[in-house]
Amino acid sequence: MNKKSTEIHPVFDQILKREDKEKLLNQHSKVIWCTGLSGAGKTTLAKNLEKALHVKGHLAQVLDGDNIRTGINNNLGFSEEDRIENIRRIAEVSKLLIQSGVITINSFISPTSGIRHMAMDIIGKENFIEIYVNAPLKTCEDRDTKGLYKKAREGKIKNFTGIDAPFEAPENPDVEVNTDQLGIEESLRKALDHILPKIEYKE
Ligand code: ADX
Repeated sequence: MNKKSTEIHPVFDQILKREDKEKLLNQHSKVIWCTGLSGAGKTTLAKNLEKALHVKGHLAQVLDGDNIRTGINNNLGFSEEDRIENIRRIAEVSKLLIQSGVITINSFISPTSGIRHMAMDIIGKENFIEIYVNAPLKTCEDRDTKGLYKKAREGKIKNFTGIDAPFEAPENPDVEVNTDQLGIEESLRKALDHILPKIEYKE
């Protein structure tokens, strides 16, 4: 045996793995990625999912555009480049969280197929559940919960998704929730029906 190998003390058998954390939490961790226009209902669904999972004994954490953008991503705007960086960081944070067994529920416009694919590549396809929270632009604009569509139409906000910045609908989401047709409870049910079997703990 050479000198070097006697000085190395691998600790791999002492490091807890994701599987150990999942076992402790009695769940499989996934990233539930909600994409859609501003005002489509992503955050409402994300919060309801978090609550419903909590009641069922699952540990989940919502990551939301408006919150993340006031904290870790407060140096980013809405240019294409900044949106990519926004989603890249979120995806890396989500990856850390699922590594520790926690389910993350992400609510981000994530407007292009390229951006969502980048997130999926970072997180891993097998960990990624894509939910398209779909309401027509007209509906989102009529709702205008934050008054941002009005400002965008007046030209007071530039690069607003759906107005003067693109939104590409997902081609093959795991779940599509049409919030102009389904109520809040029905939307939640539809998403849960898809998610619960995937997070249910199996050895
Ligand atoms: S993303 O495109 O980079 O995924 P993200 O989900 O983080 O966007 O943030 C979207 C939220 O930021 C919207 O719900 C809205 O409240 C606010 N916002 C402010 N300016 C814009 C804009 N130009 N385009 C879209 N959303 C904006």
